[in-house]
Amino acid sequence: MALKALRLLLLLLPLLLPTWAEHETFLKPPSNCNKCIQSNPQFAWCTAPGLKRRCHTVKGLRSAGCTTHYMYNPQGSVQVTRNESSTQSTAETLYLQPQEVTLHLRPGVSQSFPLSITMPKDHTITELNMDTSPMPAAFNITFSSIINGNMLVEVKVGSAHCSTMIGDLNQNRRGPWSVNLAPRGFPQNVKLVINVECECDCARTREENSPACSSHGALVCGSCECDPPYIGHQCHVDIESSFYRDDNFCRSGPNAPLCSGRGACVDGFCQCNSRENPEERYYGQFCQCSNFDCPYQNNRICGGHGKCECGRCICDQDWTNEDCSCSMDTALCMAPNQQLCNGGGLCMCGRCKCDTLYAGPLCESCPTCLGSCQQHAKCVECRAFGTGPKKDRCQDECTYLILTKVQSKDDISAPCKMISREDSCYFYYSVSQSASGTYVTVADDKECPRTL
Ligand SMILES: *[C@@H]1O[C@H](CO)[C@@H](O)[C@H](O)[C@H]1NC(C)=O
Ligand SMILES: *[C@@H]1O[C@H](CO)[C@@H](O)[C@H](O)[C@H]1NC(C)=O
Repeated sequence: MALKALRLLLLLLPLLLPTWAEHETFLKPPSNCNKCIQSNPQFAWCTAPGLKRRCHTVKGLRSAGCTTHYMYNPQGSVQVTRNESSTQSTAETLYLQPQEVTLHLRPGVSQSFPLSITMPKDHTITELNMDTSPMPAAFNITFSSIINGNMLVEVKVGSAHCSTMIGDLNQNRRGPWSVNLAPRGFPQNVKLVINVECECDCARTREENSPACSSHGALVCGSCECDPPYIGHQCHVDIESSFYRDDNFCRSGPNAPLCSGRGACVDGFCQCNSRENPEERYYGQFCQCSNFDCPYQNNRICGGHGKCECGRCICDQDWTNEDCSCSMDTALCMAPNQQLCNGGGLCMCGRCKCDTLYAGPLCESCPTCLGSCQQHAKCVECRAFGTGPKKDRCQDECTYLILTKVQSKDDISAPCKMISREDSCYFYYSVSQSASGTYVTVADDKECPRTL
């Protein structure tokens, strides 16, 4: 049932909208005297200084502190401009009095005057109709019934509004209009000159650069008409100032969407949309930034080691990389010999990145590398064979090696090959370094030169 009603309302919506729009303009009081006077015959305008609302009923303006002196509430007027009496006491022809009337009409407020019609003496009245010459549709002229034998008719003249007249006639024609009234069947007529009061008298004088308008506008009928870029009832707000900007200040570039499409532009400032997740937010002058649009690492924004600012991770101390995935802590790169990565690589993001010849977690192994072979050769020789230049210092200097013996050089992949000066034989071994020490694998079989 409720759904059906809603559907009906949605169907009606386009039809209702114009009514709502009209209602809206009605709710907002007209901001200048002319519009005020035209909008409602009940409304008056107050020209007193310092008022915010000037258009209201007389009662409303009084209670707002407006005195009669400042009240502008035209009701229109009637001036009889020709009213000649008949010279003959008994007329041969029909006689109308007055002959010419000038009317000032406020839209919605009618004016009336008495019209005396003296019939020719031999004329018997059965019925009398009054005709009017063509006139704007907004005018309305009515005649009250005959009051007595010598007819006295009340002529009532009204005008509905100003806009219709401007709409259905040439715009330059703002009056006065001339309308003739004539009893049907007689040549005599009364000339009406009708002026419609669409403009307030006070609107004809403007005080330019008025101090009452902060010298940024003209004072008209007590209210300010501001020069751009000023607005406000005292022209005190500069819409080009940093406090009050237009929509372009909500765009990051000439064709960029308002507030990056992530917010609303209010008085030249972006109000960024909120997110479902209260932890997430858009921010920045154009809502161009967010605190969630950053690289993820291990399912955590900025790897859990930093905060996301405007699409970029700001990493915690000791962390780096665009996703804060890289630790700058070197503890895991430190080899037992107190060298980072045994000097065979770089400590990067907390891990050893070994140079080409080196391998292993701490770049400890370099099977083919001469330097490493030479570095340990003298200790390997004294430990494995009891020979060589360090044979007397082997106990003091070479116990750091953790030694394993295999039979043949074939049991060692890519072995080091060194010559023993004592017997001119080659011996083979490999060195590998790890956190727990330096491991050496030595082949028991030497390779000695054939004796001649
Ligand atoms: C015109 O003049 C007559 C007197 O001659 C007067 O009675 C009448 O009220 C006047 N009409 C108007 C509309 O003022
Ligand atoms: C003309 O005026 C009469 C009486 O004031 C009123 O009843 C009538 O509705 C008016 N007509 C128009 C078209 O305004």
